[in-house]
Amino acid sequence: MKIPLFTLLFLLGTQIGFTQPFFLPKLPYSYSEYAPQIDALTMETHHAKHHQSYVNNLNKALVGTRMESQTLIDLMFYAGFRSDVVRNNAGAHYNHSLFWEILAPLSAQSEMSQELSTAITKDFISMDSLKKTFLNAASSRFGSGWAWLIVSPDKKLMITSTSNQDNPIMDVVTERGIPIMAIDVWEHAYYLNYQNRRADYLNAVWSLINWGKVSEKYTMAINDSLLIELEKDSWPAMMEFHKVMAQTFHPSESGDLQPIRKRSGEFFAKAILLTASAPPKSLNNIAIHEGLTKLEKKCNEINSLVKKGAKDAVLIKKMAESHDLFHNVQGLCHD
Ligand SMILES: [Fe+2]
Repeated sequence: MKIPLFTLLFLLGTQIGFTQPFFLPKLPYSYSEYAPQIDALTMETHHAKHHQSYVNNLNKALVGTRMESQTLIDLMFYAGFRSDVVRNNAGAHYNHSLFWEILAPLSAQSEMSQELSTAITKDFISMDSLKKTFLNAASSRFGSGWAWLIVSPDKKLMITSTSNQDNPIMDVVTERGIPIMAIDVWEHAYYLNYQNRRADYLNAVWSLINWGKVSEKYTMAINDSLLIELEKDSWPAMMEFHKVMAQTFHPSESGDLQPIRKRSGEFFAKAILLTASAPPKSLNNIAIHEGLTKLEKKCNEINSLVKKGAKDAVLIKKMAESHDLFHNVQGLCHD
């Protein structure tokens, strides 16, 4: 079967994180085909106006910055380090792209896979209880936000909700994982037709969920290396070290050594704590321990050099080496 180029690009985008410049994905169906659950004007306004402006704002905020080469996943993963404009518009682009992908008119829907069905039975007992829990999360989300069905780092299905345009990939969210299904509970998603009746909208939009597509997302998610990155990022000692690394290494890149000169002791102390801490289960392997030992040694060296009053050029080189060693262990970088 020949796959249209757009579909191929979209599929690749969802697997590896959309690349820049970002663009508005075309809807798989015409605006009127989602009715009566969602009327054509709401679909068109939501997609062609709201989503388009999130994409435009995101591209505008990134052009000419050091974030220009990052994927959408990279941008969101460290959302807490981003400006509000980037955090909100990156989240909005991802969230809406997923939402369009998992909705389909009743006549176009495909069946849930056995794999997802088994996982739902295991984690929620039944589809009815999943629906009840999900709609409760969506209806009780105060103000604007999203409800999610996610795969957690330990590969369990979970239902969560987030405010504004945040999502479970972001470091600003407590319950993290890879989203496989989402419902938009911003008023712009339903107000034209349902006004304040969010519960009616939720019941209607629930019937548009294409479980065949959600099944594809589930299979991709449980095999996605992003789950490992999310698990690493829930490692408290790693997060602590990462903070100091980010606040000392990045200034050093532009020649500012003051942060590391002031904090080299703390930098080394956090590295010791990291080496001594227990990694998450899936990361508890020899390569990780070896990587941490090398990192601690490098941090010790930097601390000694700072104490001896080493020259800027020497420290810049050593900081770059420590950063490389760190990202051999940690993977993603948020600069
Ligand atoms: Fe929306």
